[in-house]
Amino acid sequence: MHPDAREVLITEQQIANRVAELGRQISRDYAGREILVVGILKGAVLFLADLVRHIDVPVRLDFMAVSSYGATTDSSGVVQIIKDLEQSIEGRHVLIVEDIVDTGLTLKYLQDNLATRRPASLRICTLLDKPGRRKVPVQVDYNGFVIPDEFVVGYGLDYAERYRNLRDILVLKPEVYQK
Ligand code: IMP
Repeated sequence: MHPDAREVLITEQQIANRVAELGRQISRDYAGREILVVGILKGAVLFLADLVRHIDVPVRLDFMAVSSYGATTDSSGVVQIIKDLEQSIEGRHVLIVEDIVDTGLTLKYLQDNLATRRPASLRICTLLDKPGRRKVPVQVDYNGFVIPDEFVVGYGLDYAERYRNLRDILVLKPEVYQK
């Protein structure tokens, strides 16, 4: 285990198994259609890379980057697009891939924003769901794991841009935040 971690919440193997399951489910649901997978930078990158390799219908990739203002642990609800999509989504089957849904403010904003661009369909896939902190309801179509209200890192998720490369999903020791 990483020295900054208090516990391993989800192991690399558990992640791999669940991501493969999600890929199979998505492939079944989208049979005969092409998916435009929209990855939300940067946290979803590792999840997306593994997920799309378990999807066996045609896939296109695009990315968005957003930032939410306010203290890092308490989203203000104001979301700004830092990087927008490179292609039109009109008439396409769009699947948003995000690392975690916490307050729900980021995904609610993205969902409302992309819906105005007239996609043929719009669904959301998240690796993690922390329902205990939800401020706005969000309909998540595919979710890997429901987790308790703990700040987690690893497998793409960061604390101050660190730990994204760790292979398990970990809960940090409290003293790491106080450094
Ligand atoms: P929301 O708008 O509150 O749902 O926040 C979503 C974003 O907050 C995610 O895309 C993450 O970047 C970040 N976030 C929320 N919880 C965690 C966590 O436990 N670890 C790392 N990042 C988190």
